[in-house]
Formats: sequence, C-alpha cells, structure tokens
Amino acid sequence: MAHANSPSIALHQNKHKHNHMASSLSFLTTLLLFTVISTVKSCPPSDRAALLAFKAALTEPNFGIFNTWSGYDCCRNWHGVSCNPTTWRVTDINLRGDSEDPIFQSLHKSGYMTGKISPEICNLDKLSTLIVADWKTISGEIPSCISSLSSLQILDLTGNKISGEIPADIGKLQRITLLNLADNVITGEIPPSIVKLAGLMHLDLSNNQIAGELPSDFGKLRKLSRALLSRNQLTGSIPNSVLKMNRLADLDLSLNRITGSIPARLGKMRVLSTLKLDGNLMTGNIPSTLLKNTGMGILNLSRNGFEGTIPDVFGSKSYFMVLDLSFNNLTGRIPGSLSSAKFMGHLDLSNNHLCGTIPIGSPFDHLDAASFSNNDCLCGNPLKTC
Ligand SMILES: *[C@@H]1O[C@H](CO)[C@@H](O)[C@H](O)[C@H]1NC(C)=O
Ligand SMILES: *[C@@H]1O[C@H](CO)[C@@H](O)[C@H](O)[C@H]1NC(C)=O
Repeated sequence: MAHANSPSIALHQNKHKHNHMASSLSFLTTLLLFTVISTVKSCPPSDRAALLAFKAALTEPNFGIFNTWSGYDCCRNWHGVSCNPTTWRVTDINLRGDSEDPIFQSLHKSGYMTGKISPEICNLDKLSTLIVADWKTISGEIPSCISSLSSLQILDLTGNKISGEIPADIGKLQRITLLNLADNVITGEIPPSIVKLAGLMHLDLSNNQIAGELPSDFGKLRKLSRALLSRNQLTGSIPNSVLKMNRLADLDLSLNRITGSIPARLGKMRVLSTLKLDGNLMTGNIPSTLLKNTGMGILNLSRNGFEGTIPDVFGSKSYFMVLDLSFNNLTGRIPGSLSSAKFMGHLDLSNNHLCGTIPIGSPFDHLDAASFSNNDCLCGNPLKTC
C-alpha cells in the first residue's frame, strides 16, 4: 500500500513544493513591481535636492510660493514644478512674478524675489522649461553650467536683475526654441556660439547692456522668427546673412548704436512684417523695396541719419499700422502714392527736411499736424494752406 501510494504522495509533495515556489515567485514579482512603481512614481532624491538648493538661494516674501516646496514628492503640488508622467523626472520650472494666477490677483501684490539662480539647477538634467520671470530683483549671473541642460527648450529669465554675460557655450542648447533674457542687466557680447541654436524661434535680449556687433553669421538662425534686441549697446551694421532668414517676421534693433545703411534686400524678405531700427546711427537712403513690401506693417526708422527722398512706391496694398520716419534727414516731397495706401495707422514724417504740398486722401484724413511738423516747407491740410 505504502509502496503503491508513494508516487502519489511524492507527486502531492512535489505539487505542494511547486505551489510554494510559484507563490513566493509571485510575491517577489509583486515586491519588485511595487519597488519599481514606487521609485518611478515619486520625484528622484537628486531632483528634489536640486530643487531645494534652488529654493535655498532665493527669497520670495509676498506669496510664500516656496512653502509648497516641502515634502518628499517634488512632483506633487510643488508650485511651478512639473514632472514627466512616466519617468517622474522634473521637466518644468515655471515661476512667473506677473502671472494671471489667482493667488497673485487675490493678494493685489506683484511678484518680488531676491537671491540668485543656483547652479545646482543644472543637476535637473531632464529639464525642458526653465521660466523664472518678472521677479524684479533676482540678481547674480546665469549659471554657466546651464548650457549642459541638453533637454532645455525654453529658457525665460526676463524681468530680473541678472548680470554677467550670456554663457559662451550657449550654442550647446541644441533643443532650445525660446531664449528670453530681456529686461535684465546683462553685459558682454552676443556669444558667437548662439548661431548654432538651429531650432531657435524666439530670441529676446531687449533692454540689457549687451555691446559689440551682431555675429556676422547671425543669419544661420534659420528658424528664428522674432529677433528682439532693442535697448542695448550694439554696434556695427546689420549683417548681410540676415537676408537668409526666411522665417524672420520681427526684427527689432531699436535704440542701439547700429551704423551703416539698410540692405536693400531686407525689403524683399518674405515674412518680415515688423522692422524697428529707430534710435540708431544708421545712414543712407531708405530702400524702395522696404516701402513697397506689402507685408510690412510696422516700420520705425525714426531718429537716425537717413537721407534722400522717400521712395514713391506705395500702392493700394500698402497697409502700415506704423510708418515712422521722423527725426531723419529726409528731403524732397511727400510721395503722392502714399494717398493710395489702404491703411496708414500712425504716420510720422516730422522733423525732417521735407517740402511741398501734403497729398490729399483717406490715409491722411485722421492725421494731425504733429505727423508733419518741423520740416522745411511743408504745407496743406493739416498744416497751413499753401
Ligand atoms: C519710433 O521710434 C521712436 C524712437 O525710438 C519712438 O520715440 C516712437 O515712439 C516710435 N514710434 C512708434 C509709432 O512707436
Ligand atoms: C543732415 O544733413 C546735413 C546737411 O546735409 C548734415 O550737416 C547733418 O549732419 C545731417 N544730419 C544727420 C543726423 O545725419
């Protein structure tokens, strides 16, 4: 009997052993899965440490936004911090001092922060957005290690008191599409490596103390649609390479010390619709292509040394929201074709050496004398009759 039974017992024991193994295996699997999930689904300690170092270098007294930066999981409810939902790595820091955020509205205070941007931010190697904007008094320099953040697509530090130079190897930020450092006190020159930012679409360095010339190969920025460089100390002339920028819609070099003349082909650029060169030291004639270009909507050439006559090339498709040629050395008559323009929102021809009768026509009906004042011998409505 025992003998006969033994295989079945053995079998039974075997089966039991197998069951045991299977359950401990599934327990292990569960444990492993649980471990994987729990490490993935909370912010990695190194990301958290980098954020805490960033927080420690700043003081924000008005709203206490950094009070939310506490607890273990920096991906959960830390104001302005976002993580990738699968890897749970920190991808975005989005802190705006002038935000429409209800917390700002309800307190009737605007953003204010002191301190500086800690270089430990560079440990967030999956960061794709870094916005620390409009906090007014954040000072110090842009950490030079920022150029190692290879995933960075948006860098916006506008509206602070950031000093020092733009990191020389900024060109390493190969994924960047928006670079906004406007309204700071940045010095030095535009680093030559900037032309390597092949995907850059929006560049704003306005209102800093940046000197030197635009890199001669600036036009390598083929994706650039807005180049806003006003209110700096830029010198030199507009590089010819700019003419190759097929997507350039908005070029603002106003209030610098740019010299030279306007390249005639600038007026042939396909999508250029805003050109602000006012407040520079430019000379030469106004190219007719620029005034003929029916896509041009805002053209400010005020306060330069432009001379010669205003080309008589306007037409029924001319549509200018702003055409400001004031404070130059323009001579001759106001072109008659201007009266055929479809729209002339703000026209300023004052403070030149123009002469003759002001043309009659709908674009002139709403203009007052200030548009024509301080010329040599203009007459007719809205000035005195001829
Ligand atoms: C054109 O530029 C001048 C000089 O910078 C400025 O004073 C003026 O307001 C600008 N014109 C318009 C219409 O914005
Ligand atoms: C304007 O032209 C006059 C005479 O041609 C010249 O003396 C003056 O320097 C010019 N002004 C500017 C701002 O270029």
